[in-house]
Amino acid sequence: MNVPLSIADYERLAEERLESGPWAYLTGGSGDEWTLRENRAAFARWTFRPRVLCDVSEISTATTVLGTRIEIPVVVAPVAYQQLYHPDGECATARGAAAAGTGIAVSTFSTRSHEEIASASPGVLQWCQLYVFQDRGVTHEHLVEVAAAGCRAVVLTVDTPRLAQRERDLRVGFEIPSDLPLPYARAAIGDAPKNPADQFALLDASVSWRDLEWIAGESNLPIVLKGVVTAEDARLAVEHGAAAIIVSNHGGRQLDGVPATLDALPEVAEAVAGRVEVYLDGGIRRGTDVAKALALGARAVLAGRGPVFGLAAAGEDGVRHVLELLRDELTLALCLLGCTSPDELTRGHIQRTAT
Ligand code: GLV
Repeated sequence: MNVPLSIADYERLAEERLESGPWAYLTGGSGDEWTLRENRAAFARWTFRPRVLCDVSEISTATTVLGTRIEIPVVVAPVAYQQLYHPDGECATARGAAAAGTGIAVSTFSTRSHEEIASASPGVLQWCQLYVFQDRGVTHEHLVEVAAAGCRAVVLTVDTPRLAQRERDLRVGFEIPSDLPLPYARAAIGDAPKNPADQFALLDASVSWRDLEWIAGESNLPIVLKGVVTAEDARLAVEHGAAAIIVSNHGGRQLDGVPATLDALPEVAEAVAGRVEVYLDGGIRRGTDVAKALALGARAVLAGRGPVFGLAAAGEDGVRHVLELLRDELTLALCLLGCTSPDELTRGHIQRTAT
């Protein structure tokens, strides 16, 4: 293939390079994968209402998330076990993100520590994605390190009290190599078990709204709740002091049958009514997808599989290029919508055209 022109091109390259196990784990969803497909399908149900003659000679895609400036309204989503996709794992992802002017959310199941990532990419915006282990001592140590390493937020994933069944992984017999470095999870899981469902079974399914205070106290960082898809939980998140919400269905990997995140976004944005920042993840493959999410009330999006396709295909340069493609596509979309910045996108720029 010549120079990849789109995330779809990177997806094809990543598929060529990866073994069947990591490929299944990265791309699969849960159950019948209905929600996985819906995340993408929803972007086609919403169409644009462009405005013309708006002087779009100067366009910026920059914004802020929790007060930090980023050059594109796209942060790299937490994706577990990134050394499965490239030997430099999360360090390469962070360098690619920094080169594109944005940051990375680092999974609890990261193969690199926040310190390693900070030395590979000094100053990169890092958020810590948190799963709480039944062994709270392991989570305590994790949060102590996170604060010391200069992370700017804790992203608590709230849709995974247990891992959903992912049949693609089971069909290919996907296993996590027992020598994969897992600086924040290995203390809880030891050398076994080797499949993700058993590793995730060590998480604490009793976590509830009461625990937010404990997490905030341990880290002293703003808490972002990832996995909220209803107005009820959005209101509770605000009441319990969350600094932001990520409308997420875990990339279609948890409860199959949950609506597409783009369809859930308006309800959450309306319930929150500007009191905290709202982000979206799930199915982002084009700059126009980013524009649709922003028009429906997201301040930024998180993209996971797209950047990791870049990582698998071309390491740090692939991550950077995937994010630059999103930037360039978003710039064009803003221009043709009659907007000069992400802040100018409104509900009036989008309509739902199919049910
Ligand atoms: C981890 O968060 C996963 O979805 O496998």
